[in-house]
Amino acid sequence: MSTLPPRWSELIDRPVNDIDTPALVIDLDAMKRNLVRMAEFAKKHNILWRPHAKMHKSASLAKMQIKAGAAGVCVQKTAEAEAMVAGGVYNVYISNEVIAPGKLARVAALAKKTAAHGGQLAIAVDSTEGLIRLAQAMNEARVRKGGGTVIDVFVEIDVGQGRCGVEPGSAAVTLVLELRKHPALRFAGLQAYHGKAQHLRSARERRKAIAKAADAVLLTRQLIEAQGVAVNLVTGAGTGCLVLEAASGVYGELQAGSFLFMDADYAQNERDPAQPQFEHAMFVKTQVISTRSDHAVCDAGHKSHAIDSGMPLVHALSADSALEYFNGGDEHGILRPAAGCSRLPGLGRMLWLIPGHCDPTVNLHDVMIGVSGGLHSGVVQRIIKVDARGALT
Ligand SMILES: Cc1ncc(COP(=O)(O)O)c(C=O)c1O
Repeated sequence: MSTLPPRWSELIDRPVNDIDTPALVIDLDAMKRNLVRMAEFAKKHNILWRPHAKMHKSASLAKMQIKAGAAGVCVQKTAEAEAMVAGGVYNVYISNEVIAPGKLARVAALAKKTAAHGGQLAIAVDSTEGLIRLAQAMNEARVRKGGGTVIDVFVEIDVGQGRCGVEPGSAAVTLVLELRKHPALRFAGLQAYHGKAQHLRSARERRKAIAKAADAVLLTRQLIEAQGVAVNLVTGAGTGCLVLEAASGVYGELQAGSFLFMDADYAQNERDPAQPQFEHAMFVKTQVISTRSDHAVCDAGHKSHAIDSGMPLVHALSADSALEYFNGGDEHGILRPAAGCSRLPGLGRMLWLIPGHCDPTVNLHDVMIGVSGGLHSGVVQRIIKVDARGALT
């Protein structure tokens, strides 16, 4: 990993006030509390957790999660897996389909590298063609480089997301039987992620969606096991529903990623009482650079935070000076007093935004600035490199 340029490392031990804006800041104390709550939840429910590193894209945070008890990490892209492995993370699951032969050659090389470090690479597949191409890439790597590495393969079923995955039931059985014809592929279980359910606002709707997903998983598992093939693991779940997948009795592993930072979108979910109390730990620090009689303008626009899940919240202001953020374009945010308030922040005032969606926000930044001791009087403790920034292939 490359060393950090001096402007970042010079910030270590400096007060929060010295962080220039806009900047992506992690409240390390809140992040650690989220980590502990997740680890305790998984332990209590006797379930594995393999957090999604597509969220933080950082090998050092992945290693922190594994140290806290995670089974490894998930990623979505081959290049994200490469960034993790380069950073010393060797249990990596690409929970996504990879089809291009060039990428599959990279996957096969990663399988060999992770195995050499005592780890394991896994990948999701949802087509016969995908299986054949993966097996071919694994065999070509064996012929080229020697040594017969095996890759773990999860067959993805669509449990309501309407994205990748075969229909639950017989289509999955067909794939599992095909998979078992290839010695370089090992059937690891089922991938059953219901992304849409995570963001349903009412707890009742989420319960209904995951109950349906669990039924689909159960049916598929029974059909596969009727063929004499064990389904050792069902993996899925995000931050919005993880309590439901954990309680379902069919999921054996949770893939939640956002719990570590918690964005403004997840704050809108009606909280399930069984859900651990995850806190916001990721903020964009911004400064007011212009004022008018009816609004103020800050220096963080949508080049600083993603807006696909809505505008950021303005954090921790007193009840009478609460602000609402409006889109001001690439580099600006427009701030207006929230309903019932009239006060506007003055020129130069520092503010903290809670982005709508953590994953694409992280991808906009080279580093995350880790602060300990709170956002007002804390100090910069570490600079966390976004190793997989822009790792799209
Ligand atoms: C396949 C998969 N698993 C798990 C997650 C984690 O979800 P979250 O970050 O909402 O916890 C995602 C997020 O998009 C995902 O695509």
